[in-house]
Amino acid sequence: MQLPRPRGPLSERLFAEMLTPDPTVVPVELDPTRVLGDDDAQVALWALYELSYRGFDNVAPDHEWCPALLSTRASIEEAFEQSLRDLTTPAVERAVGRPEYTAEQLLAVIDDVEDEPGLAQFLQRRATEEQYREFLVHRSLYHLKESDPHAWAIPRLEGAPKVALAELQYDEFGAGRADQLHSTLFARALEGAGLDPAYGAYVDVVPALTLAVNNAMSFFGLHRRLRGAIMGHLAAFESTSSLPCRRYSGGAARLGFDERVSHYFDEHVEADAVHEQLAVRTICQRLVDQDASLQRDVLLGASTCVQLDAQAGRQMTGAWEQGRSSLLEASQQEVA
Ligand SMILES: [Fe+2]
Ligand SMILES: [Fe+2]
Repeated sequence: MQLPRPRGPLSERLFAEMLTPDPTVVPVELDPTRVLGDDDAQVALWALYELSYRGFDNVAPDHEWCPALLSTRASIEEAFEQSLRDLTTPAVERAVGRPEYTAEQLLAVIDDVEDEPGLAQFLQRRATEEQYREFLVHRSLYHLKESDPHAWAIPRLEGAPKVALAELQYDEFGAGRADQLHSTLFARALEGAGLDPAYGAYVDVVPALTLAVNNAMSFFGLHRRLRGAIMGHLAAFESTSSLPCRRYSGGAARLGFDERVSHYFDEHVEADAVHEQLAVRTICQRLVDQDASLQRDVLLGASTCVQLDAQAGRQMTGAWEQGRSSLLEASQQEVA
């Protein structure tokens, strides 16, 4: 994979630095109230995080630990973290006001999103083939590295939460079979829908919010202090997966897509119901039992997951309701 296209002055300058042997710090000035929808900031952060996943063919592997790039990353993260805390604090405060059972508080935070017809129902009943493909394109950013951001937590946990996370991840990573890796199942679903299964193929066409969904996971996963948040994110992700996956599968069948598409989602209907129990009851509950100071961060992660997911869903269906594509136009990708 090559570096993505820059989307503004920050990413333009940053990507130019990333291509040099000795990058220097890029000054960052961001407005935390706008950073979630800021294409320039989100693509910059996404590219910096990618150095810790698969990297780029045109960037030196050692740049993962380049102090100047890490310093630039920290400046973007500061505004990003503020925006995530602003987004989730009301729901987290409402939940911590309840009796002190993390599992119950988690469910309260997960339910604390506006009830609306939603993306899953749209895809199940109304989406055109093209709209369904767009949905897969948005999701490809995460599902082609499915569960990788949550795996960063493994060495940071101990005892029961670590064992439960390993059990959950064992499924996500194929349960001992390379052809059952969930990221591989998703790549096959992309192929089945006539899309490009290559890792990172669609980075340049997804909007800021889709990148923010992914950046939030990497941000939580890559910071040990936020291990509660990445596990809260996992709990919310697994808890809100089973039912929508049934609808996604129904939509794929309605549209007559190749069975590789529904297969990916069918696999998640039952698996994620089990994963939900592991993540909520064992990982998060026991983690907070071990260290009560992690409670708010668990809820921060869970709330971030559902709130960003709801926003991204609204953005997709909103575009489709207006007869527009939810992806970036080729013209928007060009940086003047
Ligand atoms: Fe999965
Ligand atoms: Fe899962």
